[in-house]
Amino acid sequence: MIILKLGGSIITKKDANKPTVDYDHLQRIAKEIKHAHVSDLIVVHGAGSFGHPFAREYAIGKPLSLKDDFQIKRIGFSLTQSWVKKLNSIVCDALRDVGIPAVSIQPSSFITTYHKRIHKGDIALIKYYVDKGFVPVIYGDVVLDDDPTLQVAVLSGDQIVTYLAKNLLPGRVILGTDVDGVFNKNPQEYQDYYLIKKLSSLQELESWDNNQTVDVTGGMLGKLEELLELAQLGIESEIINAGRKSLIRDALQGKKVRGTVIKK
Ligand code: IPE
Repeated sequence: MIILKLGGSIITKKDANKPTVDYDHLQRIAKEIKHAHVSDLIVVHGAGSFGHPFAREYAIGKPLSLKDDFQIKRIGFSLTQSWVKKLNSIVCDALRDVGIPAVSIQPSSFITTYHKRIHKGDIALIKYYVDKGFVPVIYGDVVLDDDPTLQVAVLSGDQIVTYLAKNLLPGRVILGTDVDGVFNKNPQEYQDYYLIKKLSSLQELESWDNNQTVDVTGGMLGKLEELLELAQLGIESEIINAGRKSLIRDALQGKKVRGTVIKK
């Protein structure tokens, strides 16, 4: 089994001032997935411009301050849930258009968190879909949080990847992002940076201030924390640039591609 994450910054135009799909990337990646002929596959995708702006505006996952805060936040939750569901529907359509039997799985309908970490969520049905030859497509969403000071939280696709991987023990985890992988230093601020081919701890990053990818679910550092947790369990993952042609296809086929492997 392979778990493939498609970052929100690849399938959407993340800096657009309204939810905007990047159809060029999405349709190309759908074809690459089709051509890779993976038998057991789960796709997880991010929210990009369909999620982060709303989650930020309504401070989803931030502690409630006023008593009546929660009514406004409920509306924000509903709105965010609706937009990320629309994106998921578009992703499933793109996959089905190339002949992939995509099925939509909505996290907020069966997962809850405690202080932003998943603690309930029965994924047996996802495995059942895979066993029957479907490709489940699950995504970053808003969910109910059992911490009364939060009530609701943002659940990132990255955390879903970790949760699925821990429970389903896939052979491989691939993260398709908009960067080539992990650099030792922030390439936007330093010149003497290089791509780290293998990463086993956060200490290997120098002067990384995470400026490059700050978002409501933690950007690159958040991603690495999730993946290093997996590495501790012996599950290897790789971060590659899904914006570059054929990399997703090659990685799915098990070819060595430019990127960063996270392993112990
Ligand atoms: C975020 O999901 C979900 C919401 C903002 C509701 P991700 O954190 O996985 O999305 P990307 O990949 O960073 O866009």
